[in-house]
Amino acid sequence: MKKSALAPRRSAGPVDENRIGRVYEPQDDTALLIDALRDIDLRGARALDLCSGSGAVAVSAALGGAAVTAVDSCPRATAATRRAAVAAGVAVDVVCADLADVTGETFDLITCNPPYVPTPPGTELSAPGPHHAWNAGPDGRAVLDVVCALIPGLLADRGTAFVVQSELAGVHQTIMALRAAGLRTNLVRKRSIAFGPVLRSRRNELVDVGLLDPTTDLESIVVTRADRTTAGDGSDRHEC
Ligand SMILES: C[S@@+](CC[C@H](N)C(=O)[O-])C[C@H]1O[C@@H](n2cnc3c(N)ncnc32)[C@H](O)[C@@H]1O
Repeated sequence: MKKSALAPRRSAGPVDENRIGRVYEPQDDTALLIDALRDIDLRGARALDLCSGSGAVAVSAALGGAAVTAVDSCPRATAATRRAAVAAGVAVDVVCADLADVTGETFDLITCNPPYVPTPPGTELSAPGPHHAWNAGPDGRAVLDVVCALIPGLLADRGTAFVVQSELAGVHQTIMALRAAGLRTNLVRKRSIAFGPVLRSRRNELVDVGLLDPTTDLESIVVTRADRTTAGDGSDRHEC
């Protein structure tokens, strides 16, 4: 990867290792994404983990034998990813950058657990703080759309990408964007989970704009797999 092409868009400032605060703790979406890694052979794969957060996904891929580059725009998260790699005894190349700035190399595996929670009208997306890990614009797709646009250019021949998200953030749009770029897509994991504190706190606003069913307090999270295959390798399957 050309790191010169990875200058952070935001001014991250120096990382003070003593002030590493909370980063997104691995949750159900993290676990679902890690579980999807069981479907492929990680040994020797060149892997890119976008939105690395705590580093849980990057470290899992590295433990499976992949050579992993992890990217997050939050310096606390990149520091946490570095610490997780050291604790696990694996090498992970960690880059603090906006994912939109990742260019210059292709990967056999791309993983991403982006922010995908729809935000109430008027929410400031660029505000610093923990909300940066989940706030994703009115339709939940502020980062997902960028990820879907990036993946085709970063995926090597016969490479595989896994993206986890809530059904509230337009799974169909994810699939259509990746298919339009010539990738084969499958929904490979799905889990129904109780609303976490963020969704509970904005439930009424999201019901008001029609994004939430007022009769449920469950959301589905899904993992979309996208493969760069040779022509005629198979059709899309959406089985789970
Ligand atoms: C939901 S957390 C995922 C953390 C971890 N991968 C996991 O699965 O537990 C999303 C992460 O995306 C990062 N992030 C948000 N917007 C980003 C962007 N534009 N570029 C790079 N990272 C971003 C946040 O800092 C946060 O660490």
